[in-house]
Amino acid sequence: MQIAETIEETRRIVKEWRKEGLSVGLVPTMGYLHDGHKSLIVRAAGENDRVVVSDFVNPTQFGVNEDLDSYPRDMERDAAVCEEAGAALIFHPSPEEMYFPDHCTFVDMESLTKGLCGKTRPTHFRGVCTVVSKLFHIVAPDRAYFGQKDAQQLAVIRRMARDLDFDIEIVGCPIVREADGLAMSSRNTYLDGKERQAALILSQALARGEEMAKAGEKDAAKIKAAMEEKIRTEPLAKIDYVEIVDADTMESLDTVAGRPLAAIAVYIGKTRLIDNTLL
Ligand code: PAJ
Repeated sequence: MQIAETIEETRRIVKEWRKEGLSVGLVPTMGYLHDGHKSLIVRAAGENDRVVVSDFVNPTQFGVNEDLDSYPRDMERDAAVCEEAGAALIFHPSPEEMYFPDHCTFVDMESLTKGLCGKTRPTHFRGVCTVVSKLFHIVAPDRAYFGQKDAQQLAVIRRMARDLDFDIEIVGCPIVREADGLAMSSRNTYLDGKERQAALILSQALARGEEMAKAGEKDAAKIKAAMEEKIRTEPLAKIDYVEIVDADTMESLDTVAGRPLAAIAVYIGKTRLIDNTLL
């Protein structure tokens, strides 16, 4: 496995593979890799001759008061995870390598990004779309892998790839959870013991919603209310949003039909966690 810190070197390596007729998969990450990330890399390695993992904490997707500086980093461990999962190359650029000091071009989206996480993080998806576009141009993969954990991000990337004619197959991958149900996240490391326990309320609230949908409840407002009620039983939890939306358009649903997605964001202490499930 190789590690490249520059765009030029990454392009050179991928071009060599292309000359040999090899297919290429890309797994974009912000590092501090866990088994959720690993599942994407393993899947990509099964479906492509070579896999590139990008490991870059992207400053443009963080708001001014967010956790850019404290976001966890561990390149040595990330390299071991990538190697074991079957990656051929890690692209690990510096912020200066990715962004000129006078960078002024962004990829923005007029729909899909206003609700859910976009409400409290109004510039987040602009940063995600911009960096993912750059990664798509740098690596030019056949396929790119994203987790359902970030359901809105996955829908946004699919739409961007469609609208801007990226010739890249976007592959969505299932959420990987801890044994007790907590969705794996690099941000789980912020939780202390009590908060780690309290964080279970996210998957438990979603399970409540799933149960109701399974039992035939079609009224989205009722399912939302039951999930909110469940979350309020946890004193350390503070709701950011509880929504039921269409999984492709991210439009709010009144009736549970089509591809309904229950999506939630909850603060556990100071840590904002997200989770979701298809109903
Ligand atoms: P990051 O949070 O590091 O996540 C990288 C990829 O791993 C995303 O596609 C995310 O959905 C997926 N992932 C995270 N936790 C997961 C889990 N528990 N199960 C399955 N997949 C999981 O998402 C980003 O980085 C950034 O926004 C990025 C796309 C890299 C752009 O900077």
